[in-house]
Amino acid sequence: MNKIKVLSDNLANQIAAGEVVERPASVIKELVENAIDAGGTRIQIDIELGGRRLMRISDDGEGMSRDDAILAFERHATSKIKTLEDLGRIGTLGFRGEALASIASVAKVELITKTKDDQVATRVNIEGGKLIDVKDAARDTGTTITVRDLFFNTPARRKFMRSEATENYHLTGIATHYALAHPEIAFTMTNNGREVLRVSPAKDLRERAFQIFGPGLLDSLLPVSGGREYVAKVTGFVSAPRERRTTRDAQYFFVNNRFVRDKTIAGGLLEGYRSVLPHGVYPVAFLFLELPGPKI
Ligand SMILES: Nc1ncnc2c1ncn2[C@@H]1O[C@H](COP(=O)(O)OP(=O)(O)OP(=O)(O)O)[C@@H](O)[C@H]1O
Ligand SMILES: [Mg+2]
Repeated sequence: MNKIKVLSDNLANQIAAGEVVERPASVIKELVENAIDAGGTRIQIDIELGGRRLMRISDDGEGMSRDDAILAFERHATSKIKTLEDLGRIGTLGFRGEALASIASVAKVELITKTKDDQVATRVNIEGGKLIDVKDAARDTGTTITVRDLFFNTPARRKFMRSEATENYHLTGIATHYALAHPEIAFTMTNNGREVLRVSPAKDLRERAFQIFGPGLLDSLLPVSGGREYVAKVTGFVSAPRERRTTRDAQYFFVNNRFVRDKTIAGGLLEGYRSVLPHGVYPVAFLFLELPGPKI
């Protein structure tokens, strides 16, 4: 008897979700990236119960047609690449066509979206990967995605979610990261109805850092600009040695404008401060690394 079976799409999505959706903050990362890729100029993030009960992201980007709004939840469905060559010149944050399929397979998701050419908006409801309904709705051009009851159908994953405070820490970290990477975009974030971040469009990274961290930090920021084209360039700001933090929380690293947490970059930064900062004390850094795309 044959023993090999092809997995159902839904099960395949739930397995893939293990890679994409580790915790509430990974959902926010994917949805904020989508909002940025869609050309959003205002991004609103609402969180309840550390993302466990609700995460909602609204943007004023290009939106989706009704057919696209349904297709967006299929695995490997993307508007961002078409050919292998495109992989070598990706200009968007997303490209795999994985995120929405993965998120929708482990949560209850509502998408409301409208393009500028459509008269009415579309509302799509998906629960645990199952399409529940598609209806007309009303909204301006743009997209709102609401993710409720994350991991409602995967109890083991639900159990591994950390405390509300820990998840909030990661959620705020993601929002701050992308707010720094995109000073031109207005961001608002509420947590259990309380506003935790509000920044209007800024002219550059320095102004955005001022909006988020206040004037105190700005005085000790030193500009960084170095590296070599076609190898790696680095720009941004690091703090003067008088600015002393007991954690690495104020270190934000980006590779080609994507959020990264990376021990090698953090280690390299600390190495640069070895003779000026005592052990256990960390600098502030907003560092943007630019690397050429892969050769395909
Ligand atoms: N906020 C949004 N506004 C407009 N279109 C969107 C939005 N979010 C998703 N889409 C559309 O849905 C498609 C699928 O999104 P999804 O995040 O699953 O994949 P992706 O962004 O293409 O790749 P990745 O899996 O790497 O994120 C996108 O390619 C895009 O066309
Ligand atoms: Mg995406």
